Amino acid sequence: MLAGKTIVITGVASGIAHRCAELASEMGANVIGIDVVKPEKTIGTFIQGDLSTQAGVSAILDALPENIDALCNVAGVSGIAGANITLAINFFGLKNLSEGAALKMRPGGSIINVASMAGFGWRDNTERASAIARIDGFPDIDKVIKDFDIPNQLGYPISKEILLVWNKIASQQKQFKDKGIRINAVSPGPVETPILAQFRQVLGEEKASKDINRVGRAGTPDDIAPVILFLCSDAAKWVNGNNISTDGGLEAAETVEKLNL
Ligand SMILES: NC(=O)c1ccc[n+]([C@@H]2O[C@H](COP(=O)([O-])OP(=O)(O)OC[C@H]3O[C@@H](n4cnc5c(N)ncnc54)[C@H](O)[C@@H]3O)[C@@H](O)[C@H]2O)c1
Repeated sequence: MLAGKTIVITGVASGIAHRCAELASEMGANVIGIDVVKPEKTIGTFIQGDLSTQAGVSAILDALPENIDALCNVAGVSGIAGANITLAINFFGLKNLSEGAALKMRPGGSIINVASMAGFGWRDNTERASAIARIDGFPDIDKVIKDFDIPNQLGYPISKEILLVWNKIASQQKQFKDKGIRINAVSPGPVETPILAQFRQVLGEEKASKDINRVGRAGTPDDIAPVILFLCSDAAKWVNGNNISTDGGLEAAETVEKLNL
């Protein structure tokens, strides 16, 4: 499904993105991995770059080739380092990279945003999420945090709510639509990667264990990567502006409870 495609994957030094890179490469894709940290094992081409600043994103964009088929926005941080850096990496860096990469994408390309079950509350916070999602460029993030009254400990879920809202908005924007670029999200529940230990600290042990117990186990990168790569492929050519919960049924369980179905 991916033979001959050029697929850019952020966060490639670890976890879900690393598994995406392995699998895409096995399926014949030309992988370009991006991370702030050097991976132990390089798959395809590696670009060391930092998504947390405008300068970092610009340097990554300069290093990317033309004719990209897909961009998998997987890199992310847990929120433990505060709301500013979390919003910078999980949303503004991702958005700016996507807008720049779209200019280097083949018509009919695909962008996949790894969001999270933690962004489940976006429908309750559409006004805030939509206002932030529509901010151009790389803003003064401290000002955004102040203007929208974002508590430091909620940086992670709010970054994913904004991402899920932007995912819908961007799928309808001319700069992507005119080139036939599809934009979709994948929302994992808890997954066994290095970030999970930090989630336990940010969310609290009780909440993390509750989510895992609800679906019987934590996910693994192998549960998530194939869904991301499906969205890269032409098999998903009629899927656009969607979010695929990839969580063993956690989103369904929360929805049944919340809406009293
Ligand atoms: N693991 C989970 O439980 C879980 C659940 C829901 C969503 N997610 C999301 O999945 C994505 C991948 O997470 P993971 O579980 O593989 O975690 P991970 O910690 O294993 O990998 C994250 C990667 O992002 C990279 N990264 C961090 N800051 C960066 C920056 N400034 N520039 C470039 N790269 C940077 C890290 O170096 C790391 O390699 C994240 O967006 C995360 O929010 C994870």
